[in-house]
Amino acid sequence: MDLPKDLIQDAKKRIDPYDVEGFVLGEGNPEADIMIVGEAPGENEAEKGIPFIGRAGVELDKQLQILDLDREDVYITSVVRSRPYKWVKTNKKGSGGRRKANRKPNQKEIMAHAKLLDYQIEKVDPVLIIALGGVAFERLTGRKEKISDYLGEVIETPIMKVGNNEDQYIESEKIYPVVPLYHPAAVFYNPKIREDINRSLSRVKAHLERVKAKG
Ligand code: URA
Repeated sequence: MDLPKDLIQDAKKRIDPYDVEGFVLGEGNPEADIMIVGEAPGENEAEKGIPFIGRAGVELDKQLQILDLDREDVYITSVVRSRPYKWVKTNKKGSGGRRKANRKPNQKEIMAHAKLLDYQIEKVDPVLIIALGGVAFERLTGRKEKISDYLGEVIETPIMKVGNNEDQYIESEKIYPVVPLYHPAAVFYNPKIREDINRSLSRVKAHLERVKAKG
């Protein structure tokens, strides 16, 4: 998808003061009915400029397969386009005693890239938005609740976008169906959620089948 150059330049400039690296715009079919919104790139994604190509990407593909979808059926993007990192200690040889670890993006970083996401949502105009994880769910809906209460539920909601008064979000006029799922990486830290994941995917699949049946 082509994005206006000034939008990209502005996003890069605004994220520059923070500890981030790389820049990933998004990937997939801009005509897709389904848009997937992740959190921020990880190490592999930041290096290659392609979303979800690391370990979380393998898990995402597995979950898409359960939904009978592949990457050509969706447009994948994220809340923040650069990898937020923090320095942590390591004993690994040749590392100089420290390495970069992923961290959650902060609100300023999220705002720095907010207009990119707004633009992509408007262009793709999806019939379903899948929010992967709490960061994406809160950015899209403004809701701070835990996503575990809403997994796989299709929520009809306005979505948050940057208003004319810069650096503030307003609600979109349009109502979008947004469905929260756990971020694919979550299962690596807590394998017990696998059952919840499968249940949430069944709910999404049933929804997609209902939409398809209606034509
Ligand atoms: N997590 C994300 O949100 N996006 C990626 O591309 C990889 C991990």
